[in-house]
Order: sequence, then structure tokens, then C-alpha cells
Amino acid sequence: NKVVLAYSGGLDTSVIVPWLRENYGCEVVCFTADVGQGLQELEGLEAKAKASGASQLVVKDLKEEFVRDYIFPCLRAGAVYERKYLLGTSMARPVIAKAMVDVAKEVGADAVSHGCTGKGNDQACLTVRFELTFFALNPKLNVVAPWREWDITGREDAIEYAKKHNVPVPVTKKSIYSRDRNLWHLSHEGDILEDPANEPKKDMYMMSVAPEDAPNQPEYVEIGIESGLPVSVNGKKLSPSTLLAELNEIGGKHGIGRIDMVENRLVGMKSRGVYETPGGTILFTAVRELESLTLDRETIQVKDSLALKYAELVYAGRWFDPLRESMDAFMQNITKTTTGSVTLKLYKGSVAVTGRKSPYSLYRQDISSFESGQIYDQADAAGFIRLYGLPMRVRAMLEQGI
Ligand code: ARG
Ligand code: SIN
Repeated sequence: NKVVLAYSGGLDTSVIVPWLRENYGCEVVCFTADVGQGLQELEGLEAKAKASGASQLVVKDLKEEFVRDYIFPCLRAGAVYERKYLLGTSMARPVIAKAMVDVAKEVGADAVSHGCTGKGNDQACLTVRFELTFFALNPKLNVVAPWREWDITGREDAIEYAKKHNVPVPVTKKSIYSRDRNLWHLSHEGDILEDPANEPKKDMYMMSVAPEDAPNQPEYVEIGIESGLPVSVNGKKLSPSTLLAELNEIGGKHGIGRIDMVENRLVGMKSRGVYETPGGTILFTAVRELESLTLDRETIQVKDSLALKYAELVYAGRWFDPLRESMDAFMQNITKTTTGSVTLKLYKGSVAVTGRKSPYSLYRQDISSFESGQIYDQADAAGFIRLYGLPMRVRAMLEQGI
């Protein structure tokens, strides 16, 4: 039998390869997904995987799929977890896990394994996100989670195990923060951040400059949107992943999209995290702003209320849930006319809207204008207000015995 292992080349996953072979007697196919985390030395990675005992390394570039099929739907839905988190890590897990299910099929493996080891508390969420996707897409796959089974505790133990099995110990020095990076965001947790009263150190950030160090000149950027999905930057049509990469560049330069929050993890405990989402923050502002022209009051309210549930499902690892899929059908339909462009002004960490346009705009200057017009007749207002206020008058009459 064969197992597909989510492989990063770090110490943990390097140790899992010999562990799987020893304990399950199986062939190990390593799998690495490129979701824009900044993969370096792919060739080196293959040699490393083989040196650990893997039969092969499969690498898949998932960037376009990740942005088009996961990030953009969340953006269109307006999914924000607990008022702030733009779900960067949560969205990446199902696309990686789905690719693992596909690779398992391609290489004829009957099991998958994900290499999360290490600290107890942050493992539950990661595991849930991976395993729920495995269950949803192929319930017959066996899932091996070494950290639930083995007795390797801590880094020293892992290094010793590696040496005993002649596996080269990766020299990459471990960051003091627990980080997760992809095309949408970079997250930081742990170390001094564990006290929510501590301000993050300046040198922690990697995708954005500090707002106070950003250029003294503002920069305008125009985002083109079709049916709730971004399609262009400054009039230039771009594929989803190149569009996002470009906005990360521009946003990072102006210190956009730093988020510092305390969130409730799936398993209940609170956790302090700092996120950098420069391009994403620009896109969220743009889409929301365009909707102010294209959606009416009640539609926005219903859409926003569903977005809360949508975000919660994504955070909880339930991407491949018919509920999320059905909400997407709603989102797709309701944003059919969310087409147009939004101009934003970026300046020292802020994103200010300066203009919006849509061929489907519900805003009509001839009606909304302060000059009295044909369609909105002031004389209609008096009767409307009397009827609209009827319940308030009745209540006041009751209270005052009238
Ligand atoms: N708290 C965020 C989330 O649950 C980010 C987690 C980052 N993951 C990590 N392994 N460092 O989605
Ligand atoms: C994840 O990385 O998907 C979640 C792990 C965590 O809760 O930090």
C-alpha cells in the first residue's frame, strides 16, 4: 500500500516519511502544493524527500485554482471571520487537501497523511480542515495522523529519530513565530504575540511596510469587477493569481491590510493572531463599495447575514459542505450585476474610496439629486410619512391614554 504525505521539507515532515515506512510498511509519496507560500529550491526538495525515503515527490502549482475557486468566492460572499479575519489559512486547507485526494487517485494510494506535529493547541483546527475535506471527497481513504499515534515529543526527539533512520536533518532555522503564508496572506501567531497586550515587533512583518514608513504620496488604483469578481487593475485584465500578486505588491508598499486580533479558535480557546493581507484588503474594499451601487438595502442585509455563516463554515473546515455550496449559488446569483469599477486611494495604511461606477448602478442622480425631480415628488412624502409612522403614533396614543 501507498500513502500520500503533505510534505514541506521541514523537520516534522522529514521525520514522518521514515516513520510511515517503519510503522505501516508502506510506500510514501510526498506531495507539496504551491499556494504562493514562496517555495524555493524545488529541485532540492525532491532530493530531500527521496533522502528521507520517499519514492517520489509530486509538486502541484495550485495558485490559480486557489485564487479563482476559493479566494474569489469568499471575497464575493464578503466572508470575514469575527469581524476581521480574511480567512487566508482557512481557505488554503481545502485546496491543498483536495489536491492530495487527487494525487492519491493518480498514484493509486489508499491513504493520506498530513504532517502536523508540534504544539497541541493549534493542531486541532488544521487537522479538522484537512480531514473534513478528505471525508467529503473520498470517504474510503485512510487518514494517518502521526502526531496522534507516535511518541516523538518535541524537536530533540525528532532530530534523534531522524539521525537513527539516516534522514538528513533540515538545517532551516525555525522562526519564533508560527507563520502561514500563501498568496492571500501571511499569519503570525505565538511568542510575544501570546500576550494580547503586546504590540508586534516591527521586524515581524514581511508583506507590508509600516504605515508610517509608506510613501508620502498617495497612490490611486482602479479595480475592475465583473459579477462580484475582480478582473482588472488600472484597466489591465489579469488572471486571478497575477491580479492578487500585483495588489499585494501595491498594497504592501503602502502599509495596507495589517490586522491584529484575538479570535476564537474552532476548539474554543482564544488566540491572538496578526495577519498581513494587503491585496485582499484592497479587494474587499472595492467589492463592498461596488455593491453599494448595485444592491439594494434588503439584499445587502441578507447577503451580509449569510456571509457570517459562510465565514464560519470556511473557518471550521467545512468548505465541501452543501451548505457552503448553496450559499455560493445565492452569492453568484445576487452579484450578477455587481459589475463596474472602483477607484481607491492608498495612503499610509489606509484605503479610501474616491469613485465607483457601474452600468447596473441603482443610483440615479435624477432621483437622488437635491433638486426636486419628476420621479420623486415632495408631495408624495407627507402621506408616506404619516402611514409609515402609524405604529409609532398608535403606541404613543396608548401610552398617553389618547
Ligand atoms: N488562526 C488562523 C486560522 O486558524 C491562522 C492559522 C495559521 N496556521 C498555522 N499553522 N500557523 O486560520
Ligand atoms: C491551520 O493552520 O489550518 C490551523 C492551525 C491553527 O489553528 O493554527
